[in-house]
Amino acid sequence: MASSSPKLSTFITWLLYFVPVYIFVLDPLIRSFFPGNSSSPSWDEDQGADTFEEWDHAPSTLHLTDDSFISPEDGVPANCPGEAEGYRVHLLSRAPLVLYIENFVSAAEADHLVDISLNKYTPSIIYDGVTERIDPAKRLSDRALLDRDDTVRCLEDRARAFQGWRPHLYIERMWAQRYNASGHYRHHYDWTGSLARGGDRLSTFMVYLGADCEGGGTNFPRLKRPVGRTWCRFLECEDGESGGAGLEEGITFKPIKGNAIFWENLRADGTGYPETWHAAYPVTKGTKVGLNIWSWYQPPKRRAGR
Ligand SMILES: *[C@@H]1O[C@H](CO)[C@@H](O)[C@H](O)[C@H]1NC(C)=O
Repeated sequence: MASSSPKLSTFITWLLYFVPVYIFVLDPLIRSFFPGNSSSPSWDEDQGADTFEEWDHAPSTLHLTDDSFISPEDGVPANCPGEAEGYRVHLLSRAPLVLYIENFVSAAEADHLVDISLNKYTPSIIYDGVTERIDPAKRLSDRALLDRDDTVRCLEDRARAFQGWRPHLYIERMWAQRYNASGHYRHHYDWTGSLARGGDRLSTFMVYLGADCEGGGTNFPRLKRPVGRTWCRFLECEDGESGGAGLEEGITFKPIKGNAIFWENLRADGTGYPETWHAAYPVTKGTKVGLNIWSWYQPPKRRAGR
């Protein structure tokens, strides 16, 4: 009569074969079929913005489903009512990539976005990695979190398409920024150097929604002004045109309704470009309304030891 239970030695032999088969064959197979539930990435608390620069929003925990921080691609069809007829793109710099976009939003879209921001403004804050605070010496403006209506969703789609539907790129919730006379934002970066700890802001669209103002230019002291006068349509070419101190300070974009500046904050290796140091010069008269469209880059976390 054959033994009905295998001997212990048989079991150990079997285990010796199974363990390497599991590690080198089965586990990778399972991971490739079920990437979502295999490595259980946990984007924990220490991956937030670090102390390097100020933030409009403090992503203390970076859960990609947190719709107070990013705009999840939830499949809601975007019905684009007053979509821009088509925008025109002009290359300003290759490294960092800086593009100027004419008519990125239509006048109707810009007006609508300003409308839905009204009654929602609160003073803008800066974030130093530890606390959020109001500091009018550094930043004086009001901000409003925009509800994701059709126009906002269309703009999210446009921002994704513009960047080639790049994987692991998440459009952050959009904030309108309103600058009254004397409103400004001192020089700062939009990136924080936090990619190694989970994610960072890869790119920025700075869209002008309302430019009923004097001053209020967007200055990049470390970018060089292109030769010739063709760019003077968009860039300050005379002293003090848009609130700047002078032409020696890099380039200053004039606020022009519907137009946008797009730039990449991070190099291919994930480090931040120092050339993206920028400021909103003080508005001297009237009101400027800007819209930030930030793209958060968060590649899947690699497992320790790989
Ligand atoms: C800007 O003007 C609005 C309307 O007058 C006012 O409510 C708001 O407090 C002002 N904001 C700042 C930062 O001065």
